[in-house]
Amino acid sequence: MNPSRHSIEEQAVSAFAKHFGASPAAVASAPGRVNLIGEHTDYNDGFVFPAAIDRATAVAIGPRDDDRLVMNPGSAEDSRFALSRLYPSEQRAWTDYLTGVASLLQERGTPLSGANMYVYGNVPRGSGLSSSAALELAAAFALIEMNGLTITPVETAKLCQRAEHEFAGVKCGIMDQFISCLGKKDNALLLDCRTLAYEHVPIPPGVDLLVCDTGVKRALAGSEYNQRREECSTGVRILSSTLKGITALRDVPAARFLELEGMLDPVVRKRCMHVVTENERVIRSACALREGNLSEFGKLMYESHLSLRRDYEVSCPELDLLVDLCAGADGVIGARMTGAGFGGCAIALVKEGFTEGVMARLNAGYRGKTGRDPSLYVCAIDDGARVRRIAG
Ligand code: GLA
Repeated sequence: MNPSRHSIEEQAVSAFAKHFGASPAAVASAPGRVNLIGEHTDYNDGFVFPAAIDRATAVAIGPRDDDRLVMNPGSAEDSRFALSRLYPSEQRAWTDYLTGVASLLQERGTPLSGANMYVYGNVPRGSGLSSSAALELAAAFALIEMNGLTITPVETAKLCQRAEHEFAGVKCGIMDQFISCLGKKDNALLLDCRTLAYEHVPIPPGVDLLVCDTGVKRALAGSEYNQRREECSTGVRILSSTLKGITALRDVPAARFLELEGMLDPVVRKRCMHVVTENERVIRSACALREGNLSEFGKLMYESHLSLRRDYEVSCPELDLLVDLCAGADGVIGARMTGAGFGGCAIALVKEGFTEGVMARLNAGYRGKTGRDPSLYVCAIDDGARVRRIAG
């Protein structure tokens, strides 16, 4: 059974007490996410439609007398840093997300006080469910609470995104940090990544969200990801010689793009084609969901997957296999890869009552073709980051 958010927080609290010999002052937690639709659109100033899931990272925190951050003592992840000397590590460590957040909070003007921290969570790492954003947000909420800082949720999400750019070297968009911060139980979040205007859209009852993990780890995600970003910028640069004033692919309507695509080399053309059509799919899918038109929503999910596979080229055979198996299964509304791609997870929306049958089909079909078991689980849609003081 999946442990509740509360019990993840309690695990962090009791591990903290065991290893530091005192209760923490506060515990924060932040969720992982799936993206229902709108992939690789966030860094093109476009639209995304993610939802926070009931897998979270918790950070229990308490004060220290010196200027150090001490994390997870007594475990394989034992790490210590001086707050006056926070740099990205040379070999890319998990702690970069946390020290990045601490460093950028300090950059706002107030030095942080020393802290003991215990991190505990159940967002699978490297599966495309944003374990890094969950860690960044939980760390940020914990440090903000303990240091009595005032910072809005949107600023917090932006700061965590910067930590990922500057300390983890991935030039990610704002989606993951935003949803981990501002997600809402039983709702997806439609976000305009240019203005950061957002709207929660309820997921209709009677639908299960099935997460299907290929088990393929996204080893190349960083460099391939940054390369896709570059290709999109190249497209904007070339198109802007005709489309005066555009600054991002967000500004290019799909119909106009079809008239101009000949200006681009084949690879850049395909990348741009995905982004401009995907933006339109997000808007249409949000309308479909508001109207309760699930079959339209599902159709758009499949179209999105095809576009990511064929034009953006960020899928992989295992993701395609899972989506194809879903497409032929009774009760599946729609399916697609979610997150950056190159491995990781697909998601399927399934009509309640059909989920066990779909899982049996996916297990058998995936094992038959790959010799491995996928990891399949139903997720609930949860709230964004939160923090609470612990009486002590
Ligand atoms: C990763 C990034 C996000 C977004 C997705 C692809 O999850 O962190 O900003 O670009 O990939 O949609």
